[in-house]
Amino acid sequence: MSIQFSDDGLIVHISNKFISYVMEAVDGKYLVLRYFGKAVRRYHGAGEPFYYKRGYTTEHPCSIPNVSFDDFPFEYPARGYGDYRIPAFAVTQDSGIEFVKLMFQGFRVLEEKPELTGLPAAFAKKGETETLEVTCEDGIAGIRVRLYYTIFEDRGVIARSQKVENIGNQALKLQNVQSFSLELPAKEYDVLSLYGTHAGEGNVSRSLLSHGVWRIESVRGSSSPQQQPFFALMDPHSTEYSGEVYGFQLIYSGNFLAQAEKDQFGNVRAQIGIHPDTFCWELNPGEAFQAPEAILNYSSEGLNGMSQNFHWLYQYHLMPSGFTHRERPVLLNSWEAMYYDVSLGKLEEQAEQAKELGAELFVLDDGWFRADNSSRTSMGDWECNQQKLPGGIAAAAELIHSKGMQFGLWFEPEAVCRDSNLYREHPDWALQIPGYEITEGRHEYILDLSQKKVREYVISVLDAYLEGGQIDYVKWDMNRPFTEVNSLALPKERKGEISHRYILGLYEILDTITKRYPKMLLEGCSSGGARFDPGMLHYAAQNWSSDNTDAFDRTRIQAGFSLMYPPIAMGAHVSITPNHQTGRTVSLNTRYQVARLFNMGYELDLSKCSSEEKSEIARQIEEYKKERGWLQRASFYRNEAPNENYAIWSSVREDQEECLAMIFQKLYRPLCSRGRFRLAGLNPEYDYVECGSKKSYGGDELMETGISIPLAKEDFYVFMFHFIREK
Ligand code: GLA
Repeated sequence: MSIQFSDDGLIVHISNKFISYVMEAVDGKYLVLRYFGKAVRRYHGAGEPFYYKRGYTTEHPCSIPNVSFDDFPFEYPARGYGDYRIPAFAVTQDSGIEFVKLMFQGFRVLEEKPELTGLPAAFAKKGETETLEVTCEDGIAGIRVRLYYTIFEDRGVIARSQKVENIGNQALKLQNVQSFSLELPAKEYDVLSLYGTHAGEGNVSRSLLSHGVWRIESVRGSSSPQQQPFFALMDPHSTEYSGEVYGFQLIYSGNFLAQAEKDQFGNVRAQIGIHPDTFCWELNPGEAFQAPEAILNYSSEGLNGMSQNFHWLYQYHLMPSGFTHRERPVLLNSWEAMYYDVSLGKLEEQAEQAKELGAELFVLDDGWFRADNSSRTSMGDWECNQQKLPGGIAAAAELIHSKGMQFGLWFEPEAVCRDSNLYREHPDWALQIPGYEITEGRHEYILDLSQKKVREYVISVLDAYLEGGQIDYVKWDMNRPFTEVNSLALPKERKGEISHRYILGLYEILDTITKRYPKMLLEGCSSGGARFDPGMLHYAAQNWSSDNTDAFDRTRIQAGFSLMYPPIAMGAHVSITPNHQTGRTVSLNTRYQVARLFNMGYELDLSKCSSEEKSEIARQIEEYKKERGWLQRASFYRNEAPNENYAIWSSVREDQEECLAMIFQKLYRPLCSRGRFRLAGLNPEYDYVECGSKKSYGGDELMETGISIPLAKEDFYVFMFHFIREK
């Protein structure tokens, strides 16, 4: 890993074994990107900008002949002086004029990665990263922007962010501060992103990037199930195993915009950041604004290469470090077994059986504080309903602990029901617009986390439950998109700040709670995977991926999220059949195998399981416990399947000594021809025994020749292969 400068100090080359990122301050004034991609040993100046004379354009004082700013690879572009493509930065000055022109000032190398005040970000120990700070200024407007580039020693990723400072004496309004802007050379790219819906998260969209602006976004208040704050630009021929892929993700849980523009000459500009439509930030003299961090990820080894870069970064440099290596407990969640109708008797019945089967954590989901058995009341009050649970949460926790299990509890701390004491006492704590009815979502309003006293209330509620040390796990849910996004506490010139201030407020609460209770395992949830994003992952070591627990649908959802998130970050539960969401009947073995490479748990009424099913569950848990240690750190692959009838995944142990490979056959097709699939990530020099058949294969053979998919006359069928190195 190194950051090197040209002799004149105007070209900088940030690199490690995998990637190079080269920028130039043209004429010492204009910061442009020269190259981002596979590592080059040393940068001698190849790929210098060269310009044709363009018509219908503007001229600029620049030593490069024929320069047109509409074709210039600006590193952090703004509009108004000749670049008409998507801007990364926009500011309204005190005069009401929206204009800013940043000029390069200097480079500085930082040994340690700076923290992003108030925001989640990748972290690293001294020596694991190097950071370049680039300073640009608009002296007339009084703006300084510091651009940060952190390179990690071990993978092809760069963490990018911006800090904006008001160094003048006029009030400024920040209209747009994207977290990066990236210029890619003119060629064909596919653009890939993840779209979805409640109970249908994580679907892959891939298409050719055409001329114009491609964009995905969230304006729902949180990152949303509709689009992930992620996209990739990739060689159209690239596959899971091969080809160049540029992946981008924002470490943020609120409204975002992700764009890629293919301009008139075929050049491509990519950006991601806070959504400018719901953002306007007043920056007074002396103040600074920190934009969220984005990750630039380059892989020359297809989508799996990109995923493994993200997995590594998120597991070792983003999620709470106390959980990176900590084996996660096998949990039983009460939701699908009891829904709102919880009671101490049911808890005891389920917990006793769960313990016998080997579960380690009992999670009491929604229902425990509700006045009735619905979502209509009580949200915000957080008082246990003693009729349902005499003795309250303390008694419930004691009961579970007495069975030798950990105890987990569900909260939805950001919401309040109209029918609640909290709302009756503090109607001004909800987001609202005076004079208009507040729109409900799942019978909830949203608490205004931009207000300090609201944050203090939320923290005090959690403290009251967590202080006693009886709660080992919290499921933090959030179940509705935002409306009437206004804070009664913010003055009119700051109304444009509420969406972002809400997210900052959320992060402040999460930061306080996770620092105060570092051993407590936090699982993020938002009607399933509606806010499964890297921002939440920074605080919540695991996230519930979807309310849809159907194994067949899960092959799509988990594969989609695995583009970015390591399997251990993803809750995957074995639930009852027929499935509550889809009505589909799938064997217990298949349900287990689809969850097995992820963060496996159970969510079903054990009293309804037969004794055969229970002994099968006990066997599954025993097997999972043996493997979870290495699986948690394994390299996860989406293997290429012969056709869309199969979903194939494999996890290869860190030392390549072991591999679990799962083949999910969607439907039995009597007339299909025999398929094969190739494994990945094994050591070609090793021989492996397949534990079921006891047959031996070479690692190279498994990866090149591949193995035949057996025939099975069953729909939704899983073949699981377990390879262990032959000694
Ligand atoms: C959301 C979650 C579920 C469950 C319910 C409880 O939908 O995604 O897992 O916790 O809320 O109300």
